[in-house]
Amino acid sequence: MILKRITAIAAVIGLAITISAFTTNFQESNPRPSNLKVLPKNISNEELEATMKSYNLALGVKCNHCHAPKSNGEKGLDFASDANPIKEVARHMIKMNKQINKKYFSKHQKDGVFQQIGCGTCHNGAATPITIAVAK
Ligand code: HEC
Ligand code: HEC
Repeated sequence: MILKRITAIAAVIGLAITISAFTTNFQESNPRPSNLKVLPKNISNEELEATMKSYNLALGVKCNHCHAPKSNGEKGLDFASDANPIKEVARHMIKMNKQINKKYFSKHQKDGVFQQIGCGTCHNGAATPITIAVAK
């Protein structure tokens, strides 16, 4: 119940942020992605944007946590660059997440809705997930 509410709130926040000024900036500065290795190559700009924004929310970070600065000294990030090693960790995470959903959650329904895990399921707003000690 609580989890459902959190999911709903997260979705609303995510949507609001996506619709905000971020949209125009993102599309102007990123015409088409050139270095996608795990996300679908034909992903729309809108979907890529929403996906990236969801990572920020799920991990409680900004884009520069995974993306390296531009190497020519200009302001801003070089999104296609792989110079930041965290980006590769994120690629492994995306693959893992997809595999877990495919293998263990593809047939798992609750109240008629297919249940899937996401980055936030483990990260819950932290770059490194905190293991919760269960009291005995
Ligand atoms: C948790 C790490 C992470 C965060 C945070 C993140 N990204 Fe990404 N981003 C990635 C990964 C990984 C890829 C490459 C995906 C692939 O290989 O398919 C990527 C790819 C991209 C690309 C495509 C680059 C290209 O040309 O191939 C853009 C644009 C982008 N991110 C923008 C953003 C923006 C804007 C933000 C902040 C709102 C952001 N990212 C936050 C991990 C992240
Ligand atoms: C099954 C649990 C789980 C899921 C789901 C998961 N992660 Fe992680 N993630 C971890 C754990 C545990 C760590 C810390 C250990 C490590 O760094 O390998 C981690 C570490 C990371 C790091 C490195 C953080 C740092 O600052 O060093 C990134 C980036 C990351 N995850 C991105 C993602 C993204 C993006 C998703 C969703 C596509 C995701 N994770 C989904 C468990 C998970």
